[in-house]
Amino acid sequence: MRKRDAIVRYTAPERINHWITAFCFMLAAVSGLGFFFPSFSWLTYILGTPQLARIAHPFIGVVMFASFIIMFLRYWRHNLINRGDIYWAKNIRKVIVNDEVDNTGRYNFGQKCVFWAAIVFLFLLLASGVVIWRPWFAPLFPLPVIRIGLMLHSFAAVSLIVVIMVHIYAALWVKGSVTAMAEGWVTQAWARKHHPRWFQEVLKKQEKNVK
Ligand code: HEM
Repeated sequence: MRKRDAIVRYTAPERINHWITAFCFMLAAVSGLGFFFPSFSWLTYILGTPQLARIAHPFIGVVMFASFIIMFLRYWRHNLINRGDIYWAKNIRKVIVNDEVDNTGRYNFGQKCVFWAAIVFLFLLLASGVVIWRPWFAPLFPLPVIRIGLMLHSFAAVSLIVVIMVHIYAALWVKGSVTAMAEGWVTQAWARKHHPRWFQEVLKKQEKNVK
């Protein structure tokens, strides 16, 4: 139930955008692991049959990439690294014991690292994915390039899976974050505790709107 002092953190279009990205990631990651490890081949049934998974996997990847680009355009400004982030990184011990470091903006340094890692690995996945995409693009490239493409694709996929595992762990660890992305709102206490500088900015905006 939405609290009376709730602050909007994500609008409905933002949440739909995020969950489309997350859903595509899950399907692409699970089917991809199925192709990669013979003992995990049963995972490809997540998309119906192994043959269907083989056809759908690259298309799902492209949708995930496009969806993340929309997120990237929405949030890149909030994820620029600043001096406060170095202070946050130096005080990481506080964060580990569930205390907060003052002056965090809309996103903390950890979230910013996830954001930039995600865009780098998604670009790598797309570029290498095109090179190895049979039957459409792979015939355009010589075999050694396809081999490098396969290596890069596997490396970027495993890296992105690790990054998103950290992202999910952090989202579950900070109580109230999942509500923010599921329902769109956070309490003032949550905003003050975890993102004090963002909270002040929201209050200023609200004051301006009242005037
Ligand atoms: C099922 C898995 C996922 C869960 C449970 C999840 C959960 C969340 C939550 C709770 C937030 C809000 C954090 C906050 O506002 O403080 C968030 C934000 C975000 N998520 Fe996810 N997420 C998932 C998958 C993904 C994937 C696959 C991507 C990208 C490939 C992604 C990218 C982002 C980005 C970019 C933000 C905004 C934070 C920022 O810009 O630094 N998420 N996620």
